[in-house]
Amino acid sequence: MPVEVYGEDYQFSPKSEILTFEEIKRLIALFQRAGTEKVRITGGEPLIRKNISGLVASLVDIPGLNDLTLTTNGWFLAQHAADLKKAGLNRVTVSLDSLDSKIFAQMNGRGFGPKKVLQGIEAALAAGLTPLKVNAVVKRSENFDSLLDLVAYFRATEVIVRFIEYMDVGNRNGWVMDEVVPSAELVERIDRRWPLEPMEANYRGEVASRYRFLDGQGEIGVISSITQPFCGDCVRARLTTDGRFITCLFAETGLNLRDPMRAGAGDDELSGLIESCWSNREDRYSELRASVPGGDSRRKIEMYQVGG
Ligand SMILES: C[S@@+](CC[C@H](N)C(=O)[O-])C[C@H]1O[C@@H](n2cnc3c(N)ncnc32)[C@H](O)[C@@H]1O
Repeated sequence: MPVEVYGEDYQFSPKSEILTFEEIKRLIALFQRAGTEKVRITGGEPLIRKNISGLVASLVDIPGLNDLTLTTNGWFLAQHAADLKKAGLNRVTVSLDSLDSKIFAQMNGRGFGPKKVLQGIEAALAAGLTPLKVNAVVKRSENFDSLLDLVAYFRATEVIVRFIEYMDVGNRNGWVMDEVVPSAELVERIDRRWPLEPMEANYRGEVASRYRFLDGQGEIGVISSITQPFCGDCVRARLTTDGRFITCLFAETGLNLRDPMRAGAGDDELSGLIESCWSNREDRYSELRASVPGGDSRRKIEMYQVGG
C-alpha cells in the first residue's frame, strides 16, 4: 500500500461495506461445508481489525476446520499473541523481509526497523503459536544479499523461514522479472553455507518446497511461484473484507457473496454460488505469465485486498 496513495487522509471503505464478524463466520462455515479445512486470516493487516481475537474465537466454533492461522506483519503481535492463543488460534506466520534495519525499512516503505517484529515473534513463540513461520519476499536488488543473516538468526529455533519469489500481484508494485531470484539460486547459496537436503511435502498442494539442514538445525521453505508455478495443485479460495470470493491471487474480479447474503439468500443458495464458482474456475495465471504477449495489462486485484 504505497504511502503516497494510502496516506493519513485516505478514505478507507466505510464499515457498512465490510463483512461483520457474523457474516464472516457464516461464509466460512459454508466454505467448510464445501470442503475447506484450513483458514488463514490475512489482509491488509489483520491485527488492526478491532477485536480480532473475538473473530478467532467465533471461527474456532466451526466444526470440521483443522487449522486456523493468521499472517501478520508482526507490528502489533506482541500485544495480541496471548489473547489470540487463548481465543483458539493455532499458529501465526510473520512477514519479515530482512534483519537489516535499512533494507527492512526500505521494503516496508514506512521506515520501520525489525525490532518490534522480532519482539512479536518472541511473544508468539512464548504464547505457543507454533509452528511459527516467517515469510520473506526475495528481491534481488533489495534483500537478497542479506538473507543468510535471516537464516542464521532463525536456524536452530522453532521458527521456519520461508522465502517467497517476488510476484507480480496487483498493479502497483512495479514488478520486473529482473527482481525475481529463482528459489533454486537461493537454495544453492544457503546450501553452500549450511548444507541442505530436500524434504517430503507435508501434504499435496503445499506451496512451499521444504529443505532441512544436514546438521539437524531445522528447516527452511521456498515458494517458487514464478519459476515453478503450481496452479494445477492450487486449492486456495480467498474471501475479501467486502465479501468477494476470489479463486486466484492474480484475479481481476471476484464473486460478490455479500450482496446476496444481505438480500436474504439462504445457506443452500450461498453454498450453490460458492460451489459453482469453484467448479468452474479456470485460473492458471502463473502458468500463463510467461506467454502473455507484451506483458500483463489486466487490472488485477491488489495484494492488500487479496491477502497473499
Ligand atoms: C499481503 S501480506 C498480508 C498480511 C500481513 N499484512 C503481512 O504483512 O503479513 C501476506 C504475505 O504476502 C507477501 N507478499 C506481499 N507482496 C508480495 C509479492 N509481490 N510477492 C510475493 N509475496 C508478497 C507478504 O510478504 C506477506 O508475507
